[in-house]
Amino acid sequence: MSASDSSQAWTAGPGAALRGSIRVPGDKSVSHRAVMLGALAQGVTRVTGFLEGEDTRATARVFEQLGVRIETPSASERIVHGVGLHGLRGSDAPLDCGNAGTGMRLLAGALAGQGFDSVLIGDASLSKRPMRRVTEPLAAMGARIDTVEGGLPPLRIHGGRELRGIEYTLPVASAQVKSALLLAGLYAQGDTVVHEPHPTRDYTERMLAAFGWPIEFSPGYARLSGGHALRATDVAVPADFSSAAFFLVAASVIPGSELLLEAVGMNPRRTGLLSALRLMGADIVEENPRSEGGEPVADLRVRHARLRGVEVPQALVPDMIDEFPALFVAAAVAEGRTVVSGAAELRVKESDRIATMAVGLRALGANIEETPDGAIVDGGALGGGAVESHGDHRIAMSFAVAAQLAAGEVRIGDVANVATSFPGFEELAAKAGMRVGHG
Ligand code: S3P
Repeated sequence: MSASDSSQAWTAGPGAALRGSIRVPGDKSVSHRAVMLGALAQGVTRVTGFLEGEDTRATARVFEQLGVRIETPSASERIVHGVGLHGLRGSDAPLDCGNAGTGMRLLAGALAGQGFDSVLIGDASLSKRPMRRVTEPLAAMGARIDTVEGGLPPLRIHGGRELRGIEYTLPVASAQVKSALLLAGLYAQGDTVVHEPHPTRDYTERMLAAFGWPIEFSPGYARLSGGHALRATDVAVPADFSSAAFFLVAASVIPGSELLLEAVGMNPRRTGLLSALRLMGADIVEENPRSEGGEPVADLRVRHARLRGVEVPQALVPDMIDEFPALFVAAAVAEGRTVVSGAAELRVKESDRIATMAVGLRALGANIEETPDGAIVDGGALGGGAVESHGDHRIAMSFAVAAQLAAGEVRIGDVANVATSFPGFEELAAKAGMRVGHG
């Protein structure tokens, strides 16, 4: 479908101050894992706060195709009738992961140890994303997974392989790769040990422990052995920090704003953007910090502040890997220069997020130059215009934020994939005071 089709495009901004209090949908990473571990567990897992997005629904559909019964009592709940580690049934039809890198990479690990063959496919964007980062270490564990040329999907996973644990140091900081290896490790003989160059989100480790699997982990390290069982448990999914991020930036940069974001997941491996925005001078207060379902959660009160450009510390990059599109918007309207480096991973996300943001923000008059592993942004004013999201949900929402500050209306093409991670974004954004809608 072309970007000029109005159902696939938004018209956004200029907008007014953001006010009130909103709760963004459930965490995508936690929702994927809750369905996966629930399916492989013995017993019934009830998931609340589930992200009813395209990505996580695709993962649930895959497990249904593999013989797992999943009930949907309400949009944000799932009841997963686990079949146990060895209870999945193979499917002759390909398993469609949609747009979800997390779905495909974690499934590659979980399916490498099954007795049946599987084929994992994805949409146009996912079909261009690198899979060798998982297939190579899984092969070292004894798995056999064919890719198409260049290490791309579809993935043909051969069943009936004997897996053995390995000790592996990740060449790139990736929770998806770490998680794929740990899930394969459930089926392996001996220990699977993963070391990371920089610690990444540890939801797989935490959730395996919650499902009763013996696991040792600390930032940058995880070790487990095969041959145990997962026991069903209830999972409460916090609101997704990455979805809150658009509002953190919007309320920070739009004069007169004061917005409360309720019950946001505050896992320290996710909140790098908060640190970066604070370095830029943002006024964000954590209220009522608490623990929900074993995860730190807080309400975030954001008030408009004058942001200054900064050099984003490279140590923050893995903790804000999904938030750079939003950060680039903050940088584009901040005072002075912002420099991002050490973030080459952005080039292999749902789109090349350095290029798509640089091209779009430049179309709105911003001063942004790409570098191989980041960008240099000189803050200034934005004008109206037309930009393309390239089917990338986070790019579309970031441009919607940029549009609020633009001098004129912004047309944002190719926004359908926003539903992968943030169904109902337009309505919630409008409730907070943003101007964004189809047409
Ligand atoms: C995710 C890990 C990250 C992140 C993605 C979700 C996860 O990818 O970008 O949106 O749920 O494990 P990488 O681990 O490949 O950086």
